[in-house]
Amino acid sequence: MKRVLSGIRATGRLHLGNYLGAVKGMLELQNSSDYETFYMVADVHTITTPYNIEELRKNRREVILDYLATGLDPAKSVIFQQSEVNEHLELAFYLSSVTTIAKMQHLPTFKEKVKQYPDHATLALLNYPALMAADILLYKAELVPVGIDQEPHLEIAREIARRFNQDYSTDFPEPQRFKTTGEYIPSLTGEGKMSKSVEGSYINLTDDLGTVRKKVRSIPTATTAGGEKTGGIKVLFDLLSLFDKENVNKFDEEFNAGTLQFVALKDAVAEAIFAELKPMQEKRKEFDNNPELVDRIISEGNEKARKVAEQTIDEVRQKMGLK
Ligand code: TRP
Repeated sequence: MKRVLSGIRATGRLHLGNYLGAVKGMLELQNSSDYETFYMVADVHTITTPYNIEELRKNRREVILDYLATGLDPAKSVIFQQSEVNEHLELAFYLSSVTTIAKMQHLPTFKEKVKQYPDHATLALLNYPALMAADILLYKAELVPVGIDQEPHLEIAREIARRFNQDYSTDFPEPQRFKTTGEYIPSLTGEGKMSKSVEGSYINLTDDLGTVRKKVRSIPTATTAGGEKTGGIKVLFDLLSLFDKENVNKFDEEFNAGTLQFVALKDAVAEAIFAELKPMQEKRKEFDNNPELVDRIISEGNEKARKVAEQTIDEVRQKMGLK
């Protein structure tokens, strides 16, 4: 059976961008009987940029709760915590032996983070893509459901797999990204993508209707209708086509006729989004009220992940002459 692996960093609760860009794909593959799916919270990746220790502990749990709320199912997927499977770190080090510094320094993701944290251009940050490659290769995963912004990291993972297979006769597959529709979710600010690191850009999966409405109402729209859809207006129509397809034409016609009331469009978008979030929030509450169950899901997931990870590491150590 083909394997799938994906992860989300433990930097906070999941937002709509994570859901549409990654989690929807994770669910689709989980629910297909052709795949064995491994989904982790990437808490070790979180330490590659400055972070707060208590928040890391809290956020790791939030990501798992959000996973369960969206429908990731421990009966179908291995849901686990990256830091609990030491082999991720071990393999990352081995993989870094076939990865040049020059290659890593040129990655746009590395450059952006260095710009953001000029005093933290660390080796761990430079090695971020090798750790991500290790996450994937450890399970010999062929498909990785992640957003389009992760494509450069997957390209590195494929190169590392190729190079490692050449040098050490391993059989790592070259992992491909699994795309979902609506994977690029625009920021509510009207510029760029929805991102945890940009305040006011995102809707959390746990936001209530009032909060969603307030956030959507704050999307900037021009006061005059007609002409071209720009910035925030385009965002509203993008969200509408993702969450309330049937109403796109109606609002489009109103927009073209110059009769569109932006607040009506905004409230329709907010309600459509919340309709999708509501069942997740109910499910999340059930898990939140049952911490022992969540603990058990995580520790069983860690155990299952370790079993696979140990086999791969054993093979790698043999082939590298370390055993
Ligand atoms: N780099 C990913 C992100 O920022 C998170 C991640 C870490 C990941 N390890 C992974 C995604 C392995 C897919 C597979 O979204």
